[in-house]
Amino acid sequence: MTKARDLLYQVSEFPPIIQGGMGVAVSNWRLARAVSSAGQMGVVSGTALDSVLIRRLQLGDPGGDMRRALAAFPFPAMAQRLLDTYYVEGGKAPDAPYRQTPMPTAHLSDAQVKLLVAANFCEVFLAKEGHGAPVGINYLEKVQLPTLPSLLGAMLAGVDAVLMGGGIPLSIPGILDRLARWEPVEKRLEVVGSDAHVQQLKPLDLVEGDVPALARPAFLAIVSSDVVAKAMLRRASGVVDGFIVEDHTAGGHNAPPRRAPGSDGQNGSPYGPKDIPNLTNIAALDKPFWLAGGCNTPHSLQGALDAKARGVQVGSAFACCRESALMPHLKEALLRETLSGDIRVITDLRASPTGYPFKLADLGVAPAGPGPLTERRRICDLGYLRTVYVREDGGLGYRCPAEPIEAFLAKGGLREETEGRLCLCNGLLSAIGLGQMRPEGPEPPMVTTGEQMDFVADLVARVGLDYTARDVIRFLQV
Ligand SMILES: Cc1cc2nc3c(=O)[nH]c(=O)nc-3n(C[C@H](O)[C@H](O)[C@H](O)COP(=O)(O)O)c2cc1C
Repeated sequence: MTKARDLLYQVSEFPPIIQGGMGVAVSNWRLARAVSSAGQMGVVSGTALDSVLIRRLQLGDPGGDMRRALAAFPFPAMAQRLLDTYYVEGGKAPDAPYRQTPMPTAHLSDAQVKLLVAANFCEVFLAKEGHGAPVGINYLEKVQLPTLPSLLGAMLAGVDAVLMGGGIPLSIPGILDRLARWEPVEKRLEVVGSDAHVQQLKPLDLVEGDVPALARPAFLAIVSSDVVAKAMLRRASGVVDGFIVEDHTAGGHNAPPRRAPGSDGQNGSPYGPKDIPNLTNIAALDKPFWLAGGCNTPHSLQGALDAKARGVQVGSAFACCRESALMPHLKEALLRETLSGDIRVITDLRASPTGYPFKLADLGVAPAGPGPLTERRRICDLGYLRTVYVREDGGLGYRCPAEPIEAFLAKGGLREETEGRLCLCNGLLSAIGLGQMRPEGPEPPMVTTGEQMDFVADLVARVGLDYTARDVIRFLQV
């Protein structure tokens, strides 16, 4: 089989500041490139990149970045087919809906696989342009169906690190080893009612012409406790190169609280002292690690180093900077409402179809369209967070607790599972300006952020509301 190329960077050479992966495409190539260009590590979000790419193409690819990346894709016929299918010169009409791809399943079509490979390639390719610092990509274990082709696409663009949480990604390290040698890979799928299903990818089947050499990226597992970190080291299918230790204040999905069922956490939060990661135990594992969750003030970095971490992973401060893809009015609302003390960030235990807690910012600006978040229309037409289950006829079915209730029940789902669930896929795409157009109006945005926005007052006082990724880095390094 094809020999793997050497890594450009060892994990020991990764910088002290990692900009956390923020989906959907909040940490897009532009933000990751800005962070890496400033000598730290930018991380693109790898979630839903197929939808992101085809929507950018349907907007006419202003600036031509997607077309430049596709021109560099090693398999030109594949890139051309994507352009022929999705590119709209001058952009679609503003009120026209986006054309979508079929939702992901255990058996991805050839076209879906190729789109995923190309989309992940493009995001990493662009993030790596024009500098020599490492770039990572972030995935969630719970978004399981697009993962294999996505990893291949990111590796084709030479991604330096894969960072993964949102579940326990035991199978990924070994998959990276095999992909680096172009060997067939398979991933066991989480299927309700069965543990016998795997998804497969034969990477050589995709190759047009020469087989490019791939390097095995570093693998950093995102964990919330030393227990999970130890489980990763003991049971993962290959080498875990390090950890991001993320606490429950971080933006996006959080680990479930470890409190006893029925008991409350502290001060209205479901979390308590048991949820604080034990850094002494983590340091004893003797792997490089970075701390995440509220590590966004000038003291944070030194604090992390004192705890024997290599540095910090920072999300919210970068989500609100100029280069992030979050819509400008949402960034500004986040910053202004933090400054005025009006910000309300809740740990919603019901919103995410994954069942994991999810941080939601309840911004005064919210949606043109349906009212409060819970009254969003129930829908599932992107399908990244669908649960796979075994149907009565033995085939695989797919259901999302945020889809219309009758449809969910007809697929064997329980009514109580639907309570409070929101369509994160559509809401998060809308927050970056790629929301679907519905007959009743645009899909309303949904904003996630960390609970600790301590950086805002100081940072904004120094550099104003429209600050850059470089400003964040300078601020953290003071
Ligand atoms: C808008 C936003 C989206 C996020 N999305 C993801 C994600 O897709 N995957 C992930 O592993 N972490 C995600 N996170 C967490 C960040 O990568 C990072 O670990 C976290 O924000 C650190 O905490 P901080 O926000 O207090 O700096 C997200 C955070 C934010 C603010």
